[in-house]
Amino acid sequence: MSDRKTLSEEMVAAAGGALASDKAKVRSDAELYERATIEAGGAATDACGTDTDGAVACETPASHEAIEAEEEAFEREGVEPIIFLDNIEVTFKTRTGSLLHPNLVHAVRGLTLKLWPGETIGIVGESGCGKSTTANVMCGLQSPTSGRVFFKGKDVTHRTAADRRVIGRVISVVFQDPATALNARMSVREQLLDPMIVHKVGTKEERERRVHDLIGMVGLPQSALEALPGQLSGGQRQRVAIARALALKPDAIIADEPTSALDVSVRAQILNLLMDLKKELGLAMVFISHDIQTVRYISDRIIVMNAGRAVERGTAEQVFNDPQDSYTRLLLGAAPSLLHPELGK
Ligand SMILES: Nc1ncnc2c1ncn2[C@@H]1O[C@H](COP(=O)(O)OP(=O)(O)OP(=O)(O)O)[C@@H](O)[C@H]1O
Ligand SMILES: [Mg+2]
Repeated sequence: MSDRKTLSEEMVAAAGGALASDKAKVRSDAELYERATIEAGGAATDACGTDTDGAVACETPASHEAIEAEEEAFEREGVEPIIFLDNIEVTFKTRTGSLLHPNLVHAVRGLTLKLWPGETIGIVGESGCGKSTTANVMCGLQSPTSGRVFFKGKDVTHRTAADRRVIGRVISVVFQDPATALNARMSVREQLLDPMIVHKVGTKEERERRVHDLIGMVGLPQSALEALPGQLSGGQRQRVAIARALALKPDAIIADEPTSALDVSVRAQILNLLMDLKKELGLAMVFISHDIQTVRYISDRIIVMNAGRAVERGTAEQVFNDPQDSYTRLLLGAAPSLLHPELGK
């Protein structure tokens, strides 16, 4: 897989290129994501394909039945889930261990989930439990070690460039840190035009009109279009990042810790914006956070992850009012909410 680079390798390569030449520029996370779904080779990372040491267990039959029962409530005639992860595992080789026997990290273990149109799934769990890895599999940046990935009913586990292009248009990502999600050297207007240009969407006039609509949708004045990200506040930058994510009229947004780099005072504003947009545009969303209160605020359904496994799942109400797993109870009782610091006291 020498022609495939990891996202971070691409970033390093892009950074090196920028040093070597004034013309080359450092690409932001969002640019890398859009290009990863388009350019030859892409940035999709393959997890190690080696079989694991047997420690990885699939979900027990009982929990599999529970998942089926849970999903049945969402099934509608002729509607396919936007994303269906079928018992996926992601295992990474670490740099520790010997050459022949590298240590393995089981980032995701036997996870099954379906994202249906219009619903919000919250994924919550502590640092390192596999949330971002799951998100990367969903948006096509990461291949699972085993299990299958379906996109609107089509098996895209071994996706082609054409699959990636379609996924990139339908699923957008809002990254954690608006500082790296946006390109510091491009004006807001250029950043919003970029995904449409990369995906060759619309005429020049249509793209300009879309940019004006987008900036209004996220509650920023038209004058913000001429600003550079450095001239905006963290909250305003995240609004721009959300506008960019909406540029291609996606069906689903994956928001990986979209508020954790922000000041407490603007977190609720950004969450409210996401909720409003979700309702207005009928978007599906995967909302990832290590703060269970934030997840509860925005999600229809919640999946609690611990060490790569989904240890609890259900509607937001079920998980909060009747948590079955001791880890969920621990999360509920732990640490004050980052959204409302007084809630957890
Ligand atoms: N490319 C990689 N190579 C090796 N190990 C990795 C890689 N990416 C993730 N991991 C490991 O996989 C596990 C899950 O990582 P992941 O980033 O999905 O966690 P997370 O739940 O998103 O954590 P956080 O809340 O800190 O963002 C971690 O132990 C991490 O060290
Ligand atoms: Mg993460």
